[in-house]
Amino acid sequence: MHKNKDGINIYDNEAYEGIKKACEVASKTLDMIVDHIEPGVTTEQLDKKCHDFILAHNSLPATLGYRGYPKSSCISLNHVVCHGIPSNKRLKNGDILNIDVTCILDGWYGDTSRMFTVGDISLKSKRLIEITYDALQLAIKSVIPGKTFGDLGAIIQEYVEKNKMSVVRDFCGHGIGSEFHQAPNVLHYGNRNSGPRLESGMCFTIEPMVNIGRPETKILSDSWTAVTRDKSLSAQFEHTVFVKKEGCEVLTQSLNNTFFPQGAKLHHNSV
Ligand code: MF3
Ligand code: CO
Ligand code: CO
Repeated sequence: MHKNKDGINIYDNEAYEGIKKACEVASKTLDMIVDHIEPGVTTEQLDKKCHDFILAHNSLPATLGYRGYPKSSCISLNHVVCHGIPSNKRLKNGDILNIDVTCILDGWYGDTSRMFTVGDISLKSKRLIEITYDALQLAIKSVIPGKTFGDLGAIIQEYVEKNKMSVVRDFCGHGIGSEFHQAPNVLHYGNRNSGPRLESGMCFTIEPMVNIGRPETKILSDSWTAVTRDKSLSAQFEHTVFVKKEGCEVLTQSLNNTFFPQGAKLHHNSV
């Protein structure tokens, strides 16, 4: 492992193997939680399930105690953009939520989040979830050595705004691997051909947050929960990706094909 000229870690194969294992536990945690999403369950109960699962897989939840954060996951409901703190609040029909977990395994970090739906959700919620998911997938397709981080931000922003939604500017993706958050900041907006160039051996998250309304957020008095200022709905998906010679490997792929929520599918025939 060494740093490139932009101060970004370039990982060797041993690091890759370690990060991949941590990512697998994170994605399996979310694969597990799908079956527990139902009306009446509290976000604290979901957090406990994540916590226990992570420990049972010889890992630690990176968020627990991180800068004073009190829980093992972030659970962000409806107009919560990110960093929602699990509580005694109960899920109800029509809710959409993001669950974000980061695992530490043998000192390596893996970070992923995805959307879940409760019962029947509105058409506008389905559209929001689909646009957010598509924006992430489009950016992932451009994770190729020689492209820039600005290219990734521009791709996400152009796609989201073309669909009349907005990209949150107040939070970003990040380098990851030997630490939770490291260089570079991975912005979900910006200009093509700007920022550091992608190189084989880099590892980072892409985690766009998309609002139906305006992009501005504010932090609640618990000093963590970020909400949309205009109370519009927000969605987010996050993958940890590892840059390879000719593209990238998504390290936080779902192993039971549940990354995109069944309840948000717009067309009956889509995969
Ligand atoms: N997992 C979040 C991320 O994607 C960070 C959560 S930090 C916490 O980077 F303290 F809010 F948990
Ligand atoms: Co992250
Ligand atoms: Co995360």
